[in-house]
Amino acid sequence: MAVPTLEWKGGLPGELAMIDQTLLPGSLVVIKVKDIDSLRNDIRRLAVRGAPAIGLAACFGVVLGVQEFIGDRQAFDRRLSEVIDFLAQARPTAVNLFGGLERMRRTADENPDLDTPAIKQRLLDEAQAALREDQEICLELGELGQTLLPDNSGALTHCNAGALATSDHGTALSVFFAAARAGKTITVYADETRPLLQGARLTAWELKQAGIDVTLICDNAAGHVMKEGRIDAVFVGADRIAANGDTANKIGTYSVSVLAKAHCVPFYVVAPVSTIDMDTPDGASIPIEERSGDEVRRFGDTSVAPSDVKAYNPAFDVTPAENITAIVTEKGIIREPTTERIAAVVAGQGD
Ligand code: MRU
Repeated sequence: MAVPTLEWKGGLPGELAMIDQTLLPGSLVVIKVKDIDSLRNDIRRLAVRGAPAIGLAACFGVVLGVQEFIGDRQAFDRRLSEVIDFLAQARPTAVNLFGGLERMRRTADENPDLDTPAIKQRLLDEAQAALREDQEICLELGELGQTLLPDNSGALTHCNAGALATSDHGTALSVFFAAARAGKTITVYADETRPLLQGARLTAWELKQAGIDVTLICDNAAGHVMKEGRIDAVFVGADRIAANGDTANKIGTYSVSVLAKAHCVPFYVVAPVSTIDMDTPDGASIPIEERSGDEVRRFGDTSVAPSDVKAYNPAFDVTPAENITAIVTEKGIIREPTTERIAAVVAGQGD
């Protein structure tokens, strides 16, 4: 993308520049984040969102939290733990948040001899490395995933798993970008993705900018467009893939998977290996974020329901592995995912 989703500006001290995704597509505004209170709030209010982007924001967040610290290495390590614990409370579902924080903790643990200025620099280098890796992985996901998308086909996606949800390129949307680069003619149907409209506001915006034929539909039109034969495959991202393949993604994904199964449409999850959580055995163990009922009672700034009506607003749901045709990772495509097949790919022994 012309403007990066997030990037570190300056050295040490520096700041994290991020697109404020709540303002898209109306305004493209880059906010400068200087402290962890603001960053945690920005993650919670979805200024930065999407599992890989949240993980990267967390890595840079650790740097924000320790960069001004003065003291010996022992005291530094205590501060680091406080910062990590604080950021870990940003959002519960995307495992990439915890993976990013763990990566930063491991970096500090593996370099006990560095003094405070040196370990700060090492942590910034690690966050930058994580960002570069994410860019490469997203490109690989696209190239692998596009082999599953025939020429002259229609695809459906839900929420936003694009450049905005990662450092660049995206996961599910990277498949569409790669298909276009390969010269395929594709048309993408984007679910609007109530309540916060990531599909309408972000996916439609990204795909249009890239010159990809995109058609926006209401979430409840997905079954109809499948029945009409417009959809050859569904591609979605993931916030957490349990060891058995059950996958948490934006609320509504599960319904799309059921519809896909009913219409014999292949359903693909596209995600980096870092989104697989081998410590979570199945979908029932994935923590699901519940957000304010006001997001349901309102449509943007407009109230669309009695202000005192009860509303239930789970931000994610779980698609059972049996509804997933394949999981596309940078280490290979896992067809009909099972614990054994997933473990083999995570260990680097898949096909
Ligand atoms: O609440 P959000 O906008 O952070 O939810 C994002 C999603 O559900 C994405 O599909 C998922 O994180 C994959 S992003 C590559």
